[in-house]
Amino acid sequence: MSKLTLEQKVSLLAAQDFWRTQEIKEHGIPALKVTDGPNGARGEFFTDGTPAALLPCGISLAATWNTEILHSIGRTLAEETKARQAQALLAPTVCMHRSPLGGRNFESFSEDPLVTGKLSSAYIKGLQEGGVGATIKHYVGNEQETWRMTVDSIIEERPLRELYLKPFEIAIREAKPWAVMSSYNLVNGKHADMNEFTLRKVLRGEWKYDGLVMSDWGGTNSTVESIKYGCDLEMPGPSKVRGKKVMDAIRKGELTIQDIDECAARVLTWIEKCGRFDLPWTESEEKSIDTQATRDLIRQAGHEGLTLLKNENHTLPIGPEVRKIAIIGPNAKQAIAGGGGSASLKPYYLTTPYDSIKEMAGDREIVYAPGAQTDKWLPLASNICTTPSGKPGVILEFYKGDKLEGTPMFIQNRPKTDLYLWDNAPKEVLPEYSFRVKTQIIPETTGKHTFGLSSVGPAKMYINGELLIDNWDWTDAGEAMFDGSVEELALWPMEAGGVYEILIESNNEVRPASKTGPTHGYGGCRIGYVERPDKDFVAEAAAVAASADVAIVVVGLDAEWESEGYDRQTMDLPKDGSQDRLIAAVAKANPRTIVVNQSGTPITMPWVNEVPAIIQAWYQGQEAGNALADVLLGNVNPSGKLPVTFPKRLEDNPAYHNWPGQDQRVLYGEGVFIGYRHYDRLNIAPQFAFGHGISYTTFEYGSPSISGSTLSDSGKLTILVSVKNTGTVAGKEIAQLYIRDVKSRLPRPEKELAAFVKVALEPGETKTVEMTIDKYAVGYYDPSLSAWIAEEGQFVGLVAASAVDIRGSVEFEVAESFTWIA
Ligand code: BGC
Repeated sequence: MSKLTLEQKVSLLAAQDFWRTQEIKEHGIPALKVTDGPNGARGEFFTDGTPAALLPCGISLAATWNTEILHSIGRTLAEETKARQAQALLAPTVCMHRSPLGGRNFESFSEDPLVTGKLSSAYIKGLQEGGVGATIKHYVGNEQETWRMTVDSIIEERPLRELYLKPFEIAIREAKPWAVMSSYNLVNGKHADMNEFTLRKVLRGEWKYDGLVMSDWGGTNSTVESIKYGCDLEMPGPSKVRGKKVMDAIRKGELTIQDIDECAARVLTWIEKCGRFDLPWTESEEKSIDTQATRDLIRQAGHEGLTLLKNENHTLPIGPEVRKIAIIGPNAKQAIAGGGGSASLKPYYLTTPYDSIKEMAGDREIVYAPGAQTDKWLPLASNICTTPSGKPGVILEFYKGDKLEGTPMFIQNRPKTDLYLWDNAPKEVLPEYSFRVKTQIIPETTGKHTFGLSSVGPAKMYINGELLIDNWDWTDAGEAMFDGSVEELALWPMEAGGVYEILIESNNEVRPASKTGPTHGYGGCRIGYVERPDKDFVAEAAAVAASADVAIVVVGLDAEWESEGYDRQTMDLPKDGSQDRLIAAVAKANPRTIVVNQSGTPITMPWVNEVPAIIQAWYQGQEAGNALADVLLGNVNPSGKLPVTFPKRLEDNPAYHNWPGQDQRVLYGEGVFIGYRHYDRLNIAPQFAFGHGISYTTFEYGSPSISGSTLSDSGKLTILVSVKNTGTVAGKEIAQLYIRDVKSRLPRPEKELAAFVKVALEPGETKTVEMTIDKYAVGYYDPSLSAWIAEEGQFVGLVAASAVDIRGSVEFEVAESFTWIA
């Protein structure tokens, strides 16, 4: 620090490019590289990057309730991050599940801050023990994607402290993440990267956090306040609000040298902690390290996250007596492995339910029907298109300037037609560029086939030289590529085997043209294509189901329906009731119907009473197919439990009246009552409760005991309970401990989770499990005292198998009220 000039210190406060901090060669300060994201380490490129391990998404990991697995996941991610030549991972995501419609809920853990805080702590510890820095995100109040850069989250201090800050507080206390990422939104009127209350008072002040704070990408909203309140690093680079603007602010006396020194020191300390000084100056190439150990861990995490919601008449597991298996559903032959947005990556490989079941089913007969169409957008044209020389994908030509003039500066072959050019247009063509996409399609069938185009800038699509879609002056924003248009569709008559030349012309002008903002952005387009036979998918599926001994229906959402950038519009399975109709018809055709739902959020289940078995399968990464097949065929007993309530109807959820808000403002009107806290208070029966999940075996709880009768300021109490496996197969049970405050000055939830433990039991085996609590289990935040308080009086500890399945209770007291700050 003492050798750096002021300009050099200021230069450290913003990144040099999308993923790297500023280097200062003369002082040997190298550039640290970061990479996304929670369920893998993607590396440099958003699409088609270096192949990487794709792990189960956040909620699937949370459904394991297994801190040891989360720790191992962290360790594995450290190796993955290093293989991508990065030193910090932009993870974990710990925002709360406030509404079932949250677009990024799949990426984060739970509706409960303790589950989120404890599991993310284990993940962070694993990652950092492996020498890679964690970046816990998004701090704070980022529970929705609608208007995510500008929405003001209005949250009263109690829920802010007790629910939304809580996972960060727990992780910072227990795992000390080396970095925190501020969120895009405002919190009570101020952007999160420049929020005096959340950053300076709480994070830096009360929690004494001395690690790095970086902004979310494009989320540094001021020059002076963000630095003053402790957001050290503007991401990404090149800087928009720092650099020269900081120097001007110092000259005007709005920032002091000390403000700069504090931030710059934290940037340097972080680069050092993450081990970047120990690596060679020049960064190596990204590598893939697809190991058997990683494959095994992902598969195990899959088994432990798969949540058996219902299993009547021993429908599952599917035993050897079953000779003919129908595998049905839109997700059966697809690898639905993760949600969309910055958590997505190019996996080492993928597995599908159909392939994995077929492989493990041995000589049994397998029949299949897709049953429904669910794509949000048309399937990518890359499934069928080739370049004129016969390579899969498209030719992408980049021109300098926005008018497609002269000869292309770069010509690339891209395998996919989601040409999201956010971080991967060649630097040399920036800031204003245009591009042509050239490819050809040879249809498999004759008919009028459908093309789809959405674009970030203006775009036109031609077929055999004729204009097919004119999207040049678009004004309706869609949901693809963050800033893209809606998908425009057009039909074209085509002959099977004919060659059709496709051309797209586009540039990176900002649409709809902004008068005051930038004129050029990142550009990109998405090309879809489908040849769709006109047939009755449901009737076909019902006939297939009727012909088999058992019908497995794999339904759900996917990375297009659940993604960063937007929220879901309904809790129903897409599209237009097609999957619900499919399940109802299959259940009628075959009484032994098993529904497997892949989603990161709850769905409505109008068919819940018509099917004997339901598995919630989340998004489970590259081993999704294998883990599911293991469980369906009984090679493994599933042991997940829900980290989130599944309500019966969307209208039952706590955020219903205040979602997604209005005029870019969202009131967290339900206060401290989210998730099961809300369903308990209103006495609304959920479809499936928080903490629910059954097994192929059964567990019996003994009556619990407690190690003492009084909980003091610095004391601990341990609750002991025996759990017995009363069935015939080995299994794992997740015991939960909730605390009820019998009487309090301020209204409190009926009960709140205070501890949990996962225990493995052989058939007939009994173990005594221990759950320990301290002051954090009984305290609530009292804004009138500006402190946490444990109020004098009686408390009940409820030992439970889910939030609605209480198995026993113990009592204790706090003898005299006490308070604390952090
Ligand atoms: C996301 C972050 C992510 C970053 C970099 C942002 O849009 O909100 O979670 O880490 O992009 O990709």
